[in-house]
Amino acid sequence: MRAVKLWAAFVLLAAANLEGETGQRAWLRYSRLDDAEVRTYRKDLPAVVVPLGQGLLIHSAQGELLRGVRGMLGQTLRVESKVPPEGAIVLGTLDELRRAAPQFHVAVRLAPDGYVLKTIYAGKLRYTVVAAANERGVLCGVFALLRKIALGQSIHGLDEKESPYAPIRWVNQWDNLDGSIERGYGGRSIFWDDGHVRSDLSRVGDFGRLLASLGVNGCSINNVNADSRMLASDFIPEVARIAEAFRPWGVQVVLAVDLGSPKILGGLETFDPVDPQVAAWWKTKADELYRAVPDLGGFVMKADSEGRAGPSAYGRTHADAANAAARALAPHGGLLFYRAFVYDHHLDWRNLKNDRALAAYDNFHPLDGQFDSNVVIQIKNGPIDFQVREPASPLFGGLRKTNQAVELQITQEYTGQSRHLVYLVPMWKATLDFDMREPRAGTPVKALVAGKAFDRPEGGFVGVANVGLDDDWMGSQLSQANLYGFGRLAWNPDLSARQIAEEWTRLGFGNDPKVVATVVRMLLGSWRTYENYTGPLGLQTLTDVTGNHYGPAVEASERNGWGQWHRADERGVGMDRTVATGTGFVGQYPAPVAAIYESLANCPDDLVLFFHHLPYTARLHSGKTVIQTIYDLHYDGERAASEYVNDWESLRGRVDSQRYDQVLAQLNYQAGAAEVWRDAVTNWFLRASGIADGEGRVGRYPGRFEAEKMRLEGYMVTPVTPWEDASGGQAVECLEKRCSASLTWDGAAGWYALRVQYFDQNKGVSRFLVWVGNQLVGKWLADDHLPAAKLDGSSSTRHTIAAVALRPGDEIRIEGVPDGGELAAIDYIEIQPRGREATGTAILRHSRAVRLRSVFTPSD
Ligand code: GCU
Repeated sequence: MRAVKLWAAFVLLAAANLEGETGQRAWLRYSRLDDAEVRTYRKDLPAVVVPLGQGLLIHSAQGELLRGVRGMLGQTLRVESKVPPEGAIVLGTLDELRRAAPQFHVAVRLAPDGYVLKTIYAGKLRYTVVAAANERGVLCGVFALLRKIALGQSIHGLDEKESPYAPIRWVNQWDNLDGSIERGYGGRSIFWDDGHVRSDLSRVGDFGRLLASLGVNGCSINNVNADSRMLASDFIPEVARIAEAFRPWGVQVVLAVDLGSPKILGGLETFDPVDPQVAAWWKTKADELYRAVPDLGGFVMKADSEGRAGPSAYGRTHADAANAAARALAPHGGLLFYRAFVYDHHLDWRNLKNDRALAAYDNFHPLDGQFDSNVVIQIKNGPIDFQVREPASPLFGGLRKTNQAVELQITQEYTGQSRHLVYLVPMWKATLDFDMREPRAGTPVKALVAGKAFDRPEGGFVGVANVGLDDDWMGSQLSQANLYGFGRLAWNPDLSARQIAEEWTRLGFGNDPKVVATVVRMLLGSWRTYENYTGPLGLQTLTDVTGNHYGPAVEASERNGWGQWHRADERGVGMDRTVATGTGFVGQYPAPVAAIYESLANCPDDLVLFFHHLPYTARLHSGKTVIQTIYDLHYDGERAASEYVNDWESLRGRVDSQRYDQVLAQLNYQAGAAEVWRDAVTNWFLRASGIADGEGRVGRYPGRFEAEKMRLEGYMVTPVTPWEDASGGQAVECLEKRCSASLTWDGAAGWYALRVQYFDQNKGVSRFLVWVGNQLVGKWLADDHLPAAKLDGSSSTRHTIAAVALRPGDEIRIEGVPDGGELAAIDYIEIQPRGREATGTAILRHSRAVRLRSVFTPSD
């Protein structure tokens, strides 16, 4: 009886632990540890905490410690103001510690925000000391201590010293004052709504806490495409409210500013940065701001870029522009981040020597040494724009006398928009660890941006975060790994992608070894997977570059001035950026790096089409031709994406149900979207090259029945643009109240999965019903929020009806009921023997075996 009760209690406890979670607590869940761990930590952790000093951040550190210990160990620490004659956790700056507890003799040198965690014995008493150079460091130390406990690491004999790799560890938010977020996928702004600061800023405080837990020390709070109202006098109190919400977490507010502000806002006739009146305006404005927000971090400025005002209007340089604002900030200790994302978006695509990749270096390298010491040039990781793979920007090696910071994009603009699992840390590390060989071999980009290589006073890491009001912050639970990963890398870029993935998984989902192993494996492979089905070999993300940057659109980058060209035609593909025959971009790298990219013999396959234009039949280092590699990698990527579904399903019952279901839905969607991508890109290249897939997959889809070839009642055939986004280039849409598309099954009797590929536009909620004979076997609503109003690869999605018994002669009918301008459009239905529907290859093999005999022509 007793055993039964105990077992019931265990089950209840397990169930309680697996209660639905929204994801809002992210990696700071502080879930109760298991009993054995609780016992160990209770033994190792003193019962008393002593915060030294009255500082706001010390107060936060104390509160956090209490919160974490209460959550994980179920006990409430006792707060004392003096070091007691019993063991205690002592929190304070090194100065305070020397005053309050000279007997501890903690003598270390620490960079600002660095900390020590130390176990100190005084006779029989054991103290756990968290000490730092400044208050923010104490807070960082407390978060580190709590992280150790959550990760199950020993805190018994602590002796750790950590200093951040670089002084700048900032995030940028691209929030508009109306509450929308440019390239944000996690809901509306946590700062702004309807032109003003939100009345409830609790999520700002929560975000500050998340940032503080990673050591991130600054956050810009408005879009780099800045509204000059940000600097208006009547707006400054609104900014001050946000600063107040961040302040307990040591996160400094930063503003994105418009170079045109002196004219637009200040009423001057000019914004010429060297005009003394303009300089005076910036100075007065900065003084006013610092009166309201004394700890303002500074400004970020996007000028002469994508239509923004810039110094070119007056024939001035970027240095003139940056210095004008920087001089106003300097007396207050503020920094001016000037973005190197400057390029001409009206380039003549016909000129094969033109190349957008040249722009950042061409613009900024000649100005090296002309920027004031509180200016930081903020450089995107690659020379184009956050593509799925780019080489490191050569500008990192081109600034010796100028501060720089790398700009990484946490929000997944070109990398799946939080609908595709893409863990970006390996991609960021590829840039940060890249040896720029400047000034000498062994100089990774991280050392350059941190100011170590050329001994610069400022430098570091900026991440475009774009969190929003959604419970999960990012639009997907798994995307949180990127925010966490950015922060951890900014603190210590020597951490490996695996270490970070493992930490995040444990903190977010607990220490169950199967969960940890599975999620870490999924994360680590996910960038390569996404790259494979979107744009491998350095092609960049083959998406709609002038639109939503989401679904496939292979030609969207071509024949326009935006310069994201890959120059694919009927003979070959790739941008020739060599010095010998191409745009000369390779020549911007230091000579030893240029030697790698210039020659085909040395250029890595992963980037070969970024640097070289090759015939489809050229052979890569792998021994395969370019075209076959494109085909194979797209199939590899799609298959890997579909396997995530099985991986995640293996965790059922081990992850709380709410997040389990959300992630499963996302991965199911991704598996379908990966197939859309695969088919779009491979068919486009098949048509362009005229070279068949050696594996016979592209253009042959056994078991697939095109909607346009089914018996249609009400449905009308319509072309899809771009053509590669729909199977066969066409779909059907319903212009009546209700339409249907049907076929007669003439395959073998058995269990089948029915997969309907349809279009879910963002302008209505159409309904679909699937009948086999008179029996309704499936129905659903097209109520997702995909980023597309029209029929294309962004709105294309699928619904699977898992197991249906079919018999020869069955009529399969799909009914569509349009709604609000969404025309219940269908691309095709795929009918696959159950259990074999997971991957394209499996489908092909199996379908060959069963030899579907249909009166309707499947598209193979
Ligand atoms: C990308 C992005 C824009 C953004 C720009 C920038 O081009 O699509 O939305 O404004 O980068 O970084 O300034």
